[in-house]
Amino acid sequence: MEANAKMYGDIQEVLIRREEIANAVKMLGDMITRDYEGKAPVMVCILKGASVFYVDLLREIDLPVTMEFMIVSSYGKGVASTGNVRIRKDLDYDISGRDVILVEDIVDTGLTLSFLKKMFIERGAQSVKIATLLDKPARRKVDLKADYYCFTVPDAFVVGYGLDYAERYRNLPDIGILKSEIYEKRSELELKTAF
Ligand code: IMP
Ligand code: MG
Repeated sequence: MEANAKMYGDIQEVLIRREEIANAVKMLGDMITRDYEGKAPVMVCILKGASVFYVDLLREIDLPVTMEFMIVSSYGKGVASTGNVRIRKDLDYDISGRDVILVEDIVDTGLTLSFLKKMFIERGAQSVKIATLLDKPARRKVDLKADYYCFTVPDAFVVGYGLDYAERYRNLPDIGILKSEIYEKRSELELKTAF
C-alpha cells in the first residue's frame, strides 16, 4: 500500500515506517535465534493484533519453532482497557515443559500479558518470555516488563501493522497515531451499524 493511500487520511502522524519495522523485526529475530540456541520454542501469537508482526518475526528466526494461536480480548471495540481478559480461542497442544514465547502487538496496561504469563507458568511451561512489537510504558497498571520489544511508543492510540481500532487499520503497513476525531465519532458510528 502506498504511503498516500486513502487510509492515511485518518492518521494524525506516522510514527514508525515499514522499513524501520522490518529492520527491528530482523534484529529481534536474530536475538531470539541466539538466545534460544539448541531449543525449540513454542511461539504463541496473540490474535488478532500480533498476527502481522508474528508472521514476519517467525521468518527471521532460525530455530525449529512451533506455531500456536490464541484469541484473547480485553478491550471490545473501544480504546480503553477494561481489565477483563477473556480467552476466546485456546492453544491446540499442551505446553508443559516447553519454552514459550508470547508474541504480542503492544503492551499497554500490561493486564493481558501478566494474566497470560501467570496462566502459562501454572500450565507447567519451562519458561515464558514476552516478545512485543510495541511497548507503551506510560499506561502500565501492573509491574510487567517485556523481555523483547522493538519500539517504545508514547501515550497515544496507534494503529497499523496488525493494530486496530474497531477492527480497522490492521492492514496499514506503517504504524501511526489515529486522529482522535475517529474514535470520538465512535458512538455515532456504532448506532448506525448496530442493526
Ligand atoms: P493491555 O492489556 O492493556 O496491555 O492491552 C493489550 C491490548 O490492548 C493489545 O494487545 C492491543 O490489542 C490493545 N491496545 C492497547 N493499546 C493499543 C493501541 O494504542 N492501539 C491498538 N490497540 C491497543
Ligand atoms: Mg486490539
